[in-house]
Amino acid sequence: MENRYLLSEKQIVWVQDIYEKIKEKIDIECERMGEKIPYVPVNGRYPDMGETSLSWWTNGFWGGIMWQMYCATGEEKYKEKALMIEDKINPVLKGFVGVDHDAGFMWLPTAVANYRLTNSKKAKERGLHAANLLSGRYNPVGKFIRAWNQEGQEGVFIIDCLMNTPLLYWASKETKDPRFAQIAKNHTDTALSYIVREDGSCNHIVQLNPTTGEFVDSPAGQGYEKGSSWSRGQAWAIYGFSLNYRYTNDNTYLDVAKKIAHYFIANVAIHNYLPLLDFRAPKEPVYYDSTAGACAACGLLELSKHVGKYEKQLYIQSAISILQSMEKSFCNWNIEEDGILGYGSARYNRADDREVPIIYGDYFFIEAILELLGKGFLIW
Ligand code: GLY
Repeated sequence: MENRYLLSEKQIVWVQDIYEKIKEKIDIECERMGEKIPYVPVNGRYPDMGETSLSWWTNGFWGGIMWQMYCATGEEKYKEKALMIEDKINPVLKGFVGVDHDAGFMWLPTAVANYRLTNSKKAKERGLHAANLLSGRYNPVGKFIRAWNQEGQEGVFIIDCLMNTPLLYWASKETKDPRFAQIAKNHTDTALSYIVREDGSCNHIVQLNPTTGEFVDSPAGQGYEKGSSWSRGQAWAIYGFSLNYRYTNDNTYLDVAKKIAHYFIANVAIHNYLPLLDFRAPKEPVYYDSTAGACAACGLLELSKHVGKYEKQLYIQSAISILQSMEKSFCNWNIEEDGILGYGSARYNRADDREVPIIYGDYFFIEAILELLGKGFLIW
């Protein structure tokens, strides 16, 4: 393998071993899955659909796993499955209320990945349609992309959306129309002003006055409480600012990605590189969120590509420490059960989807392993 991350012999053996395990398990899951859109397994098996709604934000991740596996193995069955998912979620684009800021999470790993790998004209149109819907959520006075659709949330934006702006950079490149990228950059600047705190931790939610753009509040989100430190939010921020740097070359994004990465690394290092669900929650009970670790690992690998040669290894070795520690403590390689990475948590204050396997945890774990092996491709 091409050792672009300068891994040790022992690390190479480990990554290759994990790749073999992923291949074995995903191969069988792929067969078993039929036309399901997986989210969280119940009693070891994915039910028909992740959530009741076709527009649920995680519905693109199985397609993303399929494209990553297609890219790594060249096996057609993965491509077929990915195309099926793309067709299945397509009706969401025809509505309005179903689509929110997470259009990137839904259509980057499906239609846009398809277009990047196969040059499909239909997939490109779907991706551009999604980018238009995402752009339509832009508030030009507050300079942010609106998050959810509920009444009263007109002024709300969230950290997660930094992972959706790559859809807009892609759309600008494809159409040669700078407006999409302008929206993405303005949103990222606003996120930088209101979301990132002095010490490198982040707010999840920010509410501005949608008419005047003035700051209103930064309420509690999926973490423990207002002012706490939801670990997946910190992970979205590491990866999100690194990606926004990739597409803009704005050094302020690179600097802030580093600052948030240092905060994240320091917090996981004191817990054996296993990410707590919230870095500022009470000591007991201990809740983990593996999805934060998997996404942060991908973000740290992305960040390592943009820094000087003496800085890279901090991010690479921290990503590997997180992945290895999570593999040891959280991975389920039993092929009879769906889901690889256990201990994923959707939010702090709800027990039913806390410390369970979640599809995006598997997605980012697989993305990180394939990236270390040089077998995957950049979906974001
Ligand atoms: N984007 C929603 C979440 O991270 O839960």
